[in-house]
Amino acid sequence: MKGEIMLKFSRYAGIDMGNKTIKIVQLEKYKNKIRIKNILSIPNRSQNPFYSKEALSENLNAVFDLIKDHLRKQKITIGIPNDRVLYKKIELPKMRPGELKQAILWEKRELLAQLEGEYVVDYEVIETHANSYEILMAASLKGEVMEYVNIAEKFGLALEAIDIYPLSIARVFKSSFAEHNLVVVDIGASRTEITLFDCGKVDFTYSVPIGGNAMTKLIAKFLSLDEFDAESIKINPGNYQSEVKECLAPLIHHLTLQIIRCIKHFQQRKGEEVKTAVFTGGGGKLLGLRDYFFNETRIEVLLADEIDFPYIEIDPILKSAFDKMEFSCALGYALRGAF
Ligand SMILES: Nc1ncnc2c1ncn2[C@@H]1O[C@H](COP(=O)(O)OP(=O)(O)OP(=O)(O)O)[C@@H](O)[C@H]1O
Ligand SMILES: [Mg+2]
Repeated sequence: MKGEIMLKFSRYAGIDMGNKTIKIVQLEKYKNKIRIKNILSIPNRSQNPFYSKEALSENLNAVFDLIKDHLRKQKITIGIPNDRVLYKKIELPKMRPGELKQAILWEKRELLAQLEGEYVVDYEVIETHANSYEILMAASLKGEVMEYVNIAEKFGLALEAIDIYPLSIARVFKSSFAEHNLVVVDIGASRTEITLFDCGKVDFTYSVPIGGNAMTKLIAKFLSLDEFDAESIKINPGNYQSEVKECLAPLIHHLTLQIIRCIKHFQQRKGEEVKTAVFTGGGGKLLGLRDYFFNETRIEVLLADEIDFPYIEIDPILKSAFDKMEFSCALGYALRGAF
């Protein structure tokens, strides 16, 4: 129409199926500008064990039912929880693209032959060197992958991609740490993901079945409280700071040891230091955690909140609500299509 400028936006949505909350980030891209337009956090209400197919199905149905109208015409990427994926990293010599495809096909077949049950395998070339490729392969149970696809279809939605955790987190932090070795520690409700990056590229990821829920349970037991009150004290300890510190000490110590093990494994193989740790996930906000970790490791600790994403605008009405600690993973899934 005369006088009207038609702007052509592409819209992307990233869905992070957390064990406490399911986080959704919606982006808009116009030319090279990426803007976060909407965020949503939906409580995970499933009573089924969080790793079960039933819980996945219940949560996906709840999410799509609630927001299907907001997801139409968007490129939707959904993440598979990190502990539901098996990873294998391979290196292949430099070859022509057609040959590379064939070589990866053989690697896929070999990986599938080693696994019990019906799996699907996908891959990403994460680095092209002068003489070789570094490739990350990821295998997930076919039944679980199909659950995502089928439930989305039931609500008339098409998934652009089913993605894996380390690639999502790489998209979020790699431009800030392109020349650094980095460990990202994502402390969620049920799990902590420890992911090592070699100058912005995924090196490996490790999932520890400990998170904020275990902390709340320890506080509840120590102070003889119900979990609701224990959760509030964990978030805002007030006069109970020393008690919280005392009862969480063994768990924090154990978690720190796991992170140190991962860092040592990286450093021994690469012969390079890890100089920075980024804490993210709701549990990463725990009072005193970063100081404890720094004292044990002397590694600089940043909270995801403190990191700028210079290439991403946040819609002004969302600014204070966009909690980078909680939404970084969903943001990474949304960025899959946008980059
Ligand atoms: N200020 C705070 N201090 C300590 N813990 C906190 C704080 N805020 C949130 N948490 C904890 O963070 C956890 C939720 O974090 P998050 O939303 O990242 O988990 P999730 O993604 O749903 O779970 P998971 O990653 O295990 O699937 C809860 O255990 C919550 O109690
Ligand atoms: Mg999480």
